[in-house]
Amino acid sequence: MSIVLVIGTNRPGSNTKKVASHIIQRYAAHGVTPQILDLSDLPPALFEPASYGDKPAEFAPFSEAILQADGIHWVTPEYNGAVPGVAKYFIDMLQFPESLVGVPVAFTGLAAGIWGALRPVEQLQDIVLYRNAHVFPAKVFIPGVFNVLAEDGSIKDEAIARRLDDQVKGFIDFVDKIRSTGKYTVSK
Ligand SMILES: Cc1cc2nc3c(=O)[nH]c(=O)nc-3n(C[C@H](O)[C@H](O)[C@H](O)COP(=O)(O)O)c2cc1C
Repeated sequence: MSIVLVIGTNRPGSNTKKVASHIIQRYAAHGVTPQILDLSDLPPALFEPASYGDKPAEFAPFSEAILQADGIHWVTPEYNGAVPGVAKYFIDMLQFPESLVGVPVAFTGLAAGIWGALRPVEQLQDIVLYRNAHVFPAKVFIPGVFNVLAEDGSIKDEAIARRLDDQVKGFIDFVDKIRSTGKYTVSK
């Protein structure tokens, strides 16, 4: 099973990356090794306006990973009540119309504030639904992320750790069911 885990920001020292590391460990505990797409690794050339036309060759591994994914687990922070601009730009750079069509997508959001990235998750959900993806219903929102992470970057809040584990288990099952039936695939 090919699960792609998207680290949805390019901010250095990102808490999103720490939460993503925890999620990756949970996948490993359930026998799945996700492929990581860290938006801080996007090639600088992608940010040239010419990329709306020709994509730089270094972007191919990102674009291919999304095209080949059985499922995508997207981890996003909240920036100004919204999804980070780099995440929307990344989606805009993906191969159209093939990308995301019929692909299950799970969302985990985190924020310093009390809403736990509800808004960016809903915004991303709207975008992937527009692109005919299948949204996994169990989303996890992490408010007050600075109190949830321990100094070593691990998750010290047991309730959130449990919710993340349930989300990972549930998403593996969801992806597996969609893969094995194929009946949810929509036309491009
Ligand atoms: C540009 C920027 C905008 C932010 N806007 C919000 C916000 O609207 N709501 C909120 O709760 N936290 C906001 N924060 C705090 C982030 O949610 C918090 O720093 C979180 O750790 C960000 O994820 P990151 O560490 O992966 O960048 C903002 C942080 C940055 C860098």
